Formats: sequence, C-alpha cells, structure tokens
Amino acid sequence: MRLLVTGGAGFIGSNYIRYILSAHPDYQILNLDKLTYAGNPENLKDIETIPNYTFVRGDICDRESVRGLEFDAIINFAAESHVDRSILDSSPFLRTNIMGTHNLLETARERDCIFLHVSTDEVYGSTENGFFTEDSPLRPNSPYAASKASSDMLVRAYVETYKIRAMITRCSNNYGPYQFPEKLIPLVIINALDKKPIPVYGDGMNVRDWIYVEDHCRAVDAVLHKGAAGEVYNIGSRNERPNIEVIRLLLGKVAERLDLNEKDLTGLISFVKDREGHDRRYAIDPLKIERQIGWGPLMSFEEGISKTVDWYISNKQWWERIISGEYMRYYDAQYRERLKK
Ligand code: NAD
Ligand code: DAU
Repeated sequence: MRLLVTGGAGFIGSNYIRYILSAHPDYQILNLDKLTYAGNPENLKDIETIPNYTFVRGDICDRESVRGLEFDAIINFAAESHVDRSILDSSPFLRTNIMGTHNLLETARERDCIFLHVSTDEVYGSTENGFFTEDSPLRPNSPYAASKASSDMLVRAYVETYKIRAMITRCSNNYGPYQFPEKLIPLVIINALDKKPIPVYGDGMNVRDWIYVEDHCRAVDAVLHKGAAGEVYNIGSRNERPNIEVIRLLLGKVAERLDLNEKDLTGLISFVKDREGHDRRYAIDPLKIERQIGWGPLMSFEEGISKTVDWYISNKQWWERIISGEYMRYYDAQYRERLKK
C-alpha cells in the first residue's frame, strides 16, 4: 500500500510513520509536510534513509504539491494544532485546517483514493457530564476546534455528494515522545527539568482524556484497514484526569527518576490567568471502535507517563534544539548535503 501521510513531521504524524514502517514494512510512505514551527524533520531522523520512506516538503493548501505523487490513500494529520495559538491568531488555522483539507478532498475525489481524516474530540465542545459519542452534536468552542469541525463537515459533504471513500477519526488528548513543548505534558516535564515555573490555567480542574500516542496510531491504522467509508470513529482510552493531577503525577515521576526533592518541583506550580473559553471537560466514548473494529488501548496511564518522562530526560538535545530554534535549520542542512551527492 502507498500512503500519503500529511503532517508527518509533527508529533502524531511522526509516531504514526514510525509505527506503520514497523507494522507494515512493505508499505510505501510519502510524508508531505510544510515544516511549520511544529514540523521537525529530526522527529524522523532514524528512518529518513529507509528506501520506502520519502519526505516531500509541501503545503496541503497547494494543489501542485501532490501532483506527480502516487498513492492509494491519504492520511491527513496536517493541521495547526495548538488551541492557545488559535486564540491569538486564527488565520493559519482556517487556511490549513479548512482550505487544506478541502484541497486534499478534491485530490481524493479526482484520484478516487481513500481519505482518512484525523480529527479531534474538541469538535464536540465541552461536557460536564456523560461522554461524547459519534452522534453527539458538534459544538466547537475555540477557533482551532471550529476549524477542525469545519473540516469534518467538508469530509461529510464530500462523502454524501461525491461518494468519496472517506473516514473521520476523533481522538482525545495524546501524549508521548516527540510532542512539541508548547503542549501541557512536555511543557511540565521540560520546565521541571529546567526549574522554571509551571503555568496552570485557572483552577487546574479542567479535565482531559489522555491517550498514549502509539495507541492512537494503532487505532488510525485499524480504521484504515477495517473502517467503513463515511463513518466517524471516536478514539479514547477512558482516562479522564484533572490537569492538576496530571501535573503532580509528572512532577513525582521526574523527582523519582532524577532523585530530586518532589516538594521543590511542586513549588514550581504557578496558577495563572485562565485560557479564554477554556473547555472544562472532554470525555470520549470509544465503544464503536472497540466493538466494530476490535481496537483497544494497550498502554496504561502510569506506564505511558513513566515512558514519556524517561524519553524527555534521555532526549534533552531534541527539545533544547527546539527551544533554541536550531531544529529549524536541520532540513536545509540535510537538503544541501543531498544536493552535493
Ligand atoms: P503538530 O502540530 O505536532 O503537527 C502538525 C504537523 O502538520 C506539522 O508537522 C506541521 O509542519 C504540519 N503542517 C501544518 N500546516 C501544514 C500545511 N499547510 N501543509 C502541510 N503540513 C502542514 O500536531 P499533532 O499534535 O501531531 O496533531 C496531528 C493531527 O492530529 C492534527 O490534525 C490534530 O488536529 C489531530 N489531533 C491531535 C491531538 C493531540 O492531542 N495532539 C488529538 C486529536 C487529534
Ligand atoms: O483533545 C484533543 C486536543 O488536545 C487536540 O485536538 C489538540 O490539537 C491538542 O493540542 C490538545 O488540546 P488541549 O488544549 O487540550 O491541549 P493542551 O496541551 O494545550 O492543554 C491541555 C490542558 O492543560 C488544557 O486544559 C489547558 C491546560 N494547560 C495547558 C498549557 C499549555 C495549562 O494549564 N497550562 C499550560 O501551560
């Protein structure tokens, strides 16, 4: 199978490519990524020379970027993904998440290929009680969530109108290796290691439903192979936690691993002004994917958090190069090397 993976240099996309190359070593992977601030080709350093993996720098909003590429399915991870950035400036979110998805839908329509759209539980909005099912209404609250909900609507419209073979997955909050340090879990670990304040929005009691990134990647692969065209699949691991509990767990692990005083680390916690429109609680009902596809999470939260803390401790250079901005030069340097050969 030949997969066009968009946004493969980001957090989930790079974990997905690594997963696919080990689960299906015969697959051809084309990674189409614009390399925005969130795209880091160093995330795939260990596999960039594998013959059935090809990186293409390009923008999903640009029709030309897929011209000449051969593939059987598009897995669309490419997006602007950070809620706080969407509150500051929503324009790139509307462009990439809506217009970029539209462009890929047109490509899928022209080529009659499978289109798997990676979406999010944030499209359902916030709920104090109960769980989001695939039939829950879409009530997005942030510009990011609204842009993802819009792209989901476009996918639905293309299925209904043009009968394209598209599926949508809606996953809860991911964590694990290679997550950009603007997101809560890597930010807490890195600030603890650097002894910097740890900003907690509001009262710290907002609830997120956490899933280990590799479990999400397995779910996307399972939907690609066993999902039905036109269907939506929620992905979650029934793991709701208030933010403050996650932060305390992370600080406890960092203290344990580095033999530090836990109290010194919890002293870094700093309650700050709340995020505008901060969703109180996300909670996914994953029954459909469990029953119809036979997928379930393998990683417990305790183990996943330990693995993640260990990864950030062992890969200090990776995140230091992000913080210094050095990582942005990696692609150009590699490219120049290739031109010389
Ligand atoms: P990320 O920000 O880490 O990575 C996004 C990637 O997309 C980057 O490599 C970036 O360079 C690329 N990109 C951005 N604009 C592009 C464009 N116009 N053309 C081509 N490439 C472009 O994001 P992530 O956390 O890995 O999320 C991946 C996908 O999964 C997104 O669609 C997101 O909405 C969805 N999702 C994320 C989570 C989560 O917890 N992180 C949960 C559910 C769903
Ligand atoms: O639910 C899936 C979504 O999860 C994805 O669609 C998004 O792409 C992804 O970014 C994530 O969105 P969140 O807004 O939930 O993730 P974030 O890591 O930004 O924040 C998690 C929670 O922690 C949220 O309640 C806000 C809070 N927070 C976040 C940061 C960065 C803090 O308290 N302090 C912080 O510094």
